Amino acid sequence: MTEFDLRPAEPADAPRIALWMAQPHVRRWWHQGWSVERWAQEIEQQAAGEHSTPYVAALDAQDFAYLELYRVRHDRLAEYYAYDDEDWGVHVAIGDATRVGRGLGRRLLGAVADTLLRTEPACTRVVAEPDIENTPSVRAFAAAGFVQHGELQLPEKTAVLMVRTRTAQEV
Ligand SMILES: CC(C)(COP(=O)(O)OP(=O)(O)OC[C@H]1O[C@@H](n2cnc3c(N)ncnc32)[C@H](O)[C@@H]1OP(=O)(O)O)[C@@H](O)C(=O)NCCC(=O)NCCS
Repeated sequence: MTEFDLRPAEPADAPRIALWMAQPHVRRWWHQGWSVERWAQEIEQQAAGEHSTPYVAALDAQDFAYLELYRVRHDRLAEYYAYDDEDWGVHVAIGDATRVGRGLGRRLLGAVADTLLRTEPACTRVVAEPDIENTPSVRAFAAAGFVQHGELQLPEKTAVLMVRTRTAQEV
């Protein structure tokens, strides 16, 4: 399907996710440098709800990134743009600092958006809200086919609304 393996995160993944989230290049943007216990709880809570699902991405059987795929209609983002009920949102973090800035993020984001649009026929848009100052993230989303749709003033940041729309080939 894609070069990446995406599996739902489990509480047993909490030690690794907590370690990734503590890395300065991730912590700076995620602000979730929590304990292992809090991450285990967070994963359980997300798995039990309808808002968001946590995933671990692997390449060549090596886990390297944490993602959250969320339903915009259940997210605070719904208050900030004219969302569609079927819109999906993406949060992403490549935990290993030695693996960022090498094109991995754009490939992962492209594969995730392609897969969502292919497997969710009612979904026509996948969105993200990177901090406007997070240039690597904005560029990686853009390289993955997400287009900038203006700025959003969120409580803790000015974000760029980035939208990957179903292409003519994917209709
Ligand atoms: C955001 C993230 C997933 C992107 O993945 P990545 O593998 O690093 O991204 P890519 O290598 O595909 O692309 C990075 C782009 O940013 C550019 N870039 C990297 N560092 C940069 C810097 N300091 N200043 C300007 N541009 C920079 C790269 O040149 C590349 O763009 P280009 O090819 O158009 O020139 C990854 O960096 C990450 O996990 N960061 C920490 C957590 C985070 O910020 N998450 C996003 C929250 S919305």
